[in-house]
Amino acid sequence: MSQTWHYGVIARYWAEFNTDGPEIEYFGHFVERGQPALDAACGTGRLLVPWLRAGLDVDGVDVSEDMLAHARRRAESEGLSPTLYAQSLHELDLPRRYRTIVVCGGLGVGSNREQDQQALERFHHHLEPGGTLVFDNEVPYASARLWRFWTAEGRAELPEAPRPPGGRRTGSDGAEYELTSRCLAFDPLAQSGTLEMRARIWRDGELVADETHPIDLVFA
Ligand SMILES: C[S@@+](CC[C@H](N)C(=O)[O-])C[C@H]1O[C@@H](n2cnc3c(N)ncnc32)[C@H](O)[C@@H]1O
Repeated sequence: MSQTWHYGVIARYWAEFNTDGPEIEYFGHFVERGQPALDAACGTGRLLVPWLRAGLDVDGVDVSEDMLAHARRRAESEGLSPTLYAQSLHELDLPRRYRTIVVCGGLGVGSNREQDQQALERFHHHLEPGGTLVFDNEVPYASARLWRFWTAEGRAELPEAPRPPGGRRTGSDGAEYELTSRCLAFDPLAQSGTLEMRARIWRDGELVADETHPIDLVFA
């Protein structure tokens, strides 16, 4: 069973701090040219909400109900009514067919290689004839932090020791948020691994939430 860490405090962190980026415009050009569109692994609506605001016909799907709840709240706060589905990409089964499917930061996330292949088949099934699938891909060597785990000596250090506290960020609610991650397992032949994220919230200096979630990653 594969897993993702986009729940609870991590979902809140995404909703709070990951609201912008060049991907909105980049992938948006494809959506403008081919609707209806599906934002697959839409998360908290970083791409979806601006596209809906621009009047584009886009649905969203994500495995995490927590991420979707933030997306819905943000969209509704702007008077938008998104169509959102809680499903895994490898089991995608939606009532609509699309001219464009966008997957931004979603392939190889919270899945294994077999599920990624199934997801590609499910995308094909959900595209109209001549439709477009557009996705980004994180190369295996993208994270220099993980380089040492490509060696047997490096992997002997796994699971990584908890990392020292990083920087806290202040949210719109005045609380302080912090994420720290560490590597639990890495397979250089399969080019996959499991990371763990610790998410904490402080309010008025007092720790009020402390959660730890793992995630499976495939580096294609
Ligand atoms: C890195 S976030 C990207 C969110 C959004 N696309 C964006 O760019 O802001 C990855 C998203 O993939 C979702 N996810 C992870 N595994 C999934 C799966 N197997 N099926 C569907 N969604 C998944 C997570 O819940 C999370 O919302």
